[in-house]
Amino acid sequence: MNTISNEALLKLAIEAREHSYSPYSHYSVGAALLTKDGKVYQGCNIENASFTPTICAERTAFFKAIYDGVREFAAIAIIGSGELPAFPCGVCRQVMSEFCGGDFLIIVSNRDGSEVVTETLDQMMPHRFGPKDLL
Ligand code: THU
Repeated sequence: MNTISNEALLKLAIEAREHSYSPYSHYSVGAALLTKDGKVYQGCNIENASFTPTICAERTAFFKAIYDGVREFAAIAIIGSGELPAFPCGVCRQVMSEFCGGDFLIIVSNRDGSEVVTETLDQMMPHRFGPKDLL
């Protein structure tokens, strides 16, 4: 049971999207990452003229939390600026695999919030490689 509703987490992702630096793609993304103890870390995509240093909204949120020492996560809401819901890219799913269990909730939405899809990490990235594989 999450400490805040999925709707409230999505609102924080919308707020985060305002911080996007995306002058090249013009596709802005916001993320709101909920920790197991009820804190929320917000992130946005940050692009670069050299393209490859670009970071996604999800990883911005995760790395802020990791820096703060947080290691337990409950859910993430992600909202893009396109017509379709903003499903996380493969690299972000891999970062989630490092820190999250299979029941981690991923809530994705589109530009105006008219479409919302909610899936677990297990559903979104089955058979993923993670820390367990290096044991
Ligand atoms: N982007 C994200 O922020 N999250 C994703 O999961 C997919 C892509 C960003 C990166 C880039 O700034 C823009 O969306 C277009 O790819």
